Amino acid sequence: MSKALRPVLIRGGRVIDPAQSLDQVSDVLLHDGLVAAVGPNLNADEAEVVEAAGQIVCPGFIDLHCHLREPGYEAKETIATGTAAAAAGGFTTVCCMPNTLPVLDTAPVLESLTRTVAAQGVVRVHPIAAITRDQAGRELVEMAELNEAGAVGFSDDGACLTDSGVMRRALEYSLLVGRPIIQHAEDPALSHHGVMHEGPVSARLGLPGWPGMAEEIIVARDIALAKITGAHVHVAHVSSAGSVDLIRRAKAQGTHVTAEVTPHHLTLTDDLVAGHWWSATASLPPYDTRTKVNPPLRPRADVDALIAGLCDGTIDVIATDHAPHTIADKECEYDEAAFGISVFETALGSIMSLVQTEQLPLVRAIEALTSGPAQIFGLDGGSLAVGAAADVTIFDPEREWCVDTSRFRSLGRNTPLDGVFLPGQVTHTFVGGKPVYQSATEVVS
Ligand code: DOR
Repeated sequence: MSKALRPVLIRGGRVIDPAQSLDQVSDVLLHDGLVAAVGPNLNADEAEVVEAAGQIVCPGFIDLHCHLREPGYEAKETIATGTAAAAAGGFTTVCCMPNTLPVLDTAPVLESLTRTVAAQGVVRVHPIAAITRDQAGRELVEMAELNEAGAVGFSDDGACLTDSGVMRRALEYSLLVGRPIIQHAEDPALSHHGVMHEGPVSARLGLPGWPGMAEEIIVARDIALAKITGAHVHVAHVSSAGSVDLIRRAKAQGTHVTAEVTPHHLTLTDDLVAGHWWSATASLPPYDTRTKVNPPLRPRADVDALIAGLCDGTIDVIATDHAPHTIADKECEYDEAAFGISVFETALGSIMSLVQTEQLPLVRAIEALTSGPAQIFGLDGGSLAVGAAADVTIFDPEREWCVDTSRFRSLGRNTPLDGVFLPGQVTHTFVGGKPVYQSATEVVS
């Protein structure tokens, strides 16, 4: 992949690499697909120079949770468009969920996906396999075979694995392959066709509600099962304050539980469903289906608890849950619309809005996007150590830009942030030393 690559000298940026506790103005040299040197006044005559003064240079972002939709739902997204969108968002490694058609539940399906990624992907892609056949919640998949085929975790995401006996067995088997079980925590008996957070706003709008306790009950149960089995439970897209408390207490007791939070659950609240004016030119009418996501956007108190949990390490990582859908999937009644937000291309902007308002320290934000995810899933990457793969993201922390979904690389235009100004723009993304995104002109193989 990297043989004929020209070396790249990234000059004078603020290099932040939480894996090495590094935060200093420095040069970074990429050579032969690897980080060759990090330090002041580096020289490389034949290198292409990227001037990065005033910009942040950090390890490429790693996303533990996205939906690339291929195979089966190519009208929503493909490997080509999804990975191009990831690169534009600064992501160099993404883990894709198995709710495709067919479901990623056998080794041949995974191997076929891996071939598509090799031919069409521009960033690294690790598949997450289903926990149960066809994500039906009953019969476990062949974890050992799927692990061999490249699965980095197991999840029935989109659906909760509700059967406690099946969950217990899944956790026991996961110990044999050393991979996490990733839970979409939602007790369907409590969320019960809810389409937004259950509370005063849902009551006013007359929409069925999906309460925080539907998440918390499953998180509590899974923590109990993780404790008994000693296995690793990873809680996907945590959305409620109660879940944060449960995870904090479980970690204090030494239970192997980790958690992720999305940029939208960190920044948006349930009252957006009632309509919102972002600015004179950007607004959401009431019942705008672009606000519909699972788990739903929650009230301010939950959002504050998520931010606090991310800051203190209770929540390990930021993951996008990039969930692209077609226009037709969203142009319908709120009750009928698909759940999901297209996130890759706005993730950094949302996160930097928290940094700019001093709700989240910049270094913690970068850790939660780089070394944090690499460490909890045991993935390569997430560091600019000399000799590491040259996966690098450069962004301008100050630059304000306007979200324009008509310019998205993703086929999914479903975001409530269309027309909103966000701070922090990715300017360059390198995978294995190869430029896969540049803010002015894109370079895609
Ligand atoms: O909003 C969501 N969309 N949440 C999920 O858990 C699944 C995802 C999808 O696949 O569209």
